[in-house]
This record gives sequence, C-alpha cells and structure tokens, in this order.
Amino acid sequence: MGLVERFYCPKCEREQQSRTIFRCLECRSIVEVKVTTNHLTRVDFAEMRKSRDRSIWRWFEFFPLAKRASIVSLGEGDTPLTHAARLGAKLGIHNLFLKNDTVLPTGSLKDRSNSVGLSVARELGFETAAVMSTGNAAASVAAYAAAAGIKSVVMVPAGTAPSKIIQARAYGATVIVVDGDFDNEVAQLYQAALHEFGWYDCLSSNPYRDEGKKSYAYEMADQLDGRIPDWVVHPTAGGTGIYAMWKGYQELLSLGCIERAPRLVAAQSDAAAPIVAAFERGLSDVEPVIARETVAESIQVGNPASLGWRALAAVRESNGTAVAVDDAEILQAQSQVASLAGIFAEPAAATSVAVAKKMRLAGTIRAGDVVVCNLTGHGLKQPEAIHVDEKDFAPIAPTVEALRKQLSQTTD
Ligand SMILES: Cc1ncc(COP(=O)(O)O)c(C=O)c1O
Ligand SMILES: [Zn+2]
Repeated sequence: MGLVERFYCPKCEREQQSRTIFRCLECRSIVEVKVTTNHLTRVDFAEMRKSRDRSIWRWFEFFPLAKRASIVSLGEGDTPLTHAARLGAKLGIHNLFLKNDTVLPTGSLKDRSNSVGLSVARELGFETAAVMSTGNAAASVAAYAAAAGIKSVVMVPAGTAPSKIIQARAYGATVIVVDGDFDNEVAQLYQAALHEFGWYDCLSSNPYRDEGKKSYAYEMADQLDGRIPDWVVHPTAGGTGIYAMWKGYQELLSLGCIERAPRLVAAQSDAAAPIVAAFERGLSDVEPVIARETVAESIQVGNPASLGWRALAAVRESNGTAVAVDDAEILQAQSQVASLAGIFAEPAAATSVAVAKKMRLAGTIRAGDVVVCNLTGHGLKQPEAIHVDEKDFAPIAPTVEALRKQLSQTTD
C-alpha cells in the first residue's frame, strides 16, 4: 500500500491537517507529500521490477494512493529507453539514450502525473477535475478524467489555437475560453473557480500528481539494469520532472537499490529560462521572467512559482546544471532526433537533446558518459513546427519517368 507519511509544507515544515488543501495555511507555499518507503527493501523493488503490470503502477508502493481499486490507468509507463547509436555518433555521445515518452497514452509526459493525480481524485471522491492549460496537460487531464468517470474542465485564454484544445475536447472536457491573459485573468478566474465550485486542482500545485513523475527514476533504474546514467537531461517548465526524478532517485538510494544518482540537467528554451537564470546567478529561489515566444511552446513558462525552487535545489543537490538553448538549436535537434533516431518529438521535448549537444560541445559531457535525454511530447502535438515546402505536396504524373525525375531532385 502506498502510504502518505507526511503532508507538509517544505518551506515552514508545518504539517497540514487537510488532505485536499494544497497550499500551506501558514505561508501559502505548495504542500508536499511524503510517501512511506521505510518498510520497503531492495527485494521489494526487485519484485516490482518483475511485475507483469508494465504501467507506472508496478511501483504502487511509491505513490500516495491507499487502495489499488482507486487506480486510474491507461497503461502509461515503461516507455522505451533507446540506445540512439546514430544520433549519438553525430553528437559525439556514444552512450546516448532517449527516454521516449512520446508513446505515452495522450502523447506526453503529463500522463505519468495525471494517472496518479486522477487516481487520488477518485480515492478522495472528487466529481470534477480542472486544469488551466493550453496543451499537453489539458489533454492528459481530460483523458484520465474520462477513464475515471470524473468530469473535467479546462480553462484556456482567448486566442488559443483550436488545434491545442481539440484533443482535450475529444476526451469530453468542458473547455472554457477566457477573455484575458494566461498568467493574469485566466489564472485568477481558475483559482476563484476552484474555490467556488470545489473542483480538484490538476496543476503542478497538486502534490499527489507530481509524485507520478518519480516513475522516471524507477523505470530508468530498471531499464539500465543497475547502470546509473551520468546525466539525465529533462525539458523543464514548471520544474515537476526534475524535482520528482530527484525524489525518486533519493528513495532508491535510501532503499539501497542504487549506489549513486545521476546528475540532473534542466533544459530550457532561452525565451523562457527562469531556472537557468536562477542557477547561473546562484539564487535559492527562481525569479519570474516574462516568457517570449518560442518554438518550444509546451515549456514556455516564465514563472514556475510552485516547484521552480524545488527543481533548482534538485539540480544543485545532484551536482547537475541548467542550460538554455535557442529556437534554431531546438529545431535542429528535433530534426536530428527524427531523422537519426526515428522518434518524432515536439520541439519542447527535443530541447533535452539540444542541451546535451551543447554540453558535449562545451566539454561538460564527455564522449563516454552515459546520457539520458527525456523526450517528453509527441511531434504530432505541434505539426506546424515542421517546415514543409508546398512543392513537396505537388502531384507527379503516374509514370516511372516522372518518378525518376522527382527522385533525382530529392536532395536528402
Ligand atoms: C512536452 C513537455 N516537456 C516538458 C514539460 C516540463 O514540465 P515540468 O518542468 O513540469 O516537468 C512539459 C510541461 O510543461 C511538456 O509539455
Ligand atoms: Zn508553510
């Protein structure tokens, strides 16, 4: 059984009485969950590894859920960890592995967290789950709510491209388009609505949800069979992934399942890089920035208010780093991941590979290092990022001659 040992404020250490209020009553910081792992041993972990259930629920005891009957799963987890030999050769990183989360049920890493988040919602008896998002989180919450039989409400700012909300709508979410700015009016209405209607909050301020991304650590330990990567590079926005992976690795260390943890790297777009800025300036908290437009839309977050400081701490404690790349580097990485490793990742996801490449060029990553880059979202989420020439779609006459001519004009 996954037992919650503590539900507390990591800033002022105050234990919280309510399990459904996610902000500390004393200092308003985001509350944190600590699951009891004291009773677990290496043998238990080895048993979990053998389970026929390949979803993240293999690691049930690590998640804050009391009953297996509450689990809401779409089979998320155990995504491929591929040795990318051709891409690695190109980048000069011979032990380059890609953690392919593009194959998760709704096409992004959000399924790891929402599977846990919606399971807890079911256990706590919520009827409606809400999220404020324009992309991957909206689709994921909507899908898991559908599977759980819980209603979902998604708030987006006016002007959001229909393609961004279609997936959530398809799963049956109620989409509310709000006249206003995402970080201001939409955020204010969202908070007011949570309070007014008692909805279950699926933002990264939900501490249960965040636990789901600890599964990266367990899966990597399993898939590399005890080998620990030297570096794990994660595309970073709110900071949940870095923070949760570090928590997962700490649990495995305390169980004696691994002897050391990898160095964690927060990869950001330079148009929205508050964690990189705070890391470089040696700050203990993240200062918000105004995010500029970037091709890495899914990680365009200027103010990682909930968990930015936790991610920063995880990067430092792991002796890792935080690195930003520009749009040209991101798009080149996206193209190389597709053409040299066969994985179509969205630009935000390819940021991890762009950063690994930059770190290799700088000599921070050495040729023999074992490097894992998390590919966190599918390329079809944002197909317009791929430049396609109109003439590529022009039909040819149905003759071998015309075909031969066309082939001779194809350069790559
Ligand atoms: C594709 C993709 N990658 C990475 C992230 C990073 O999120 P976090 O820093 O919360 O792990 C997100 C979500 O914001 C995302 O949609
Ligand atoms: Zn507090």
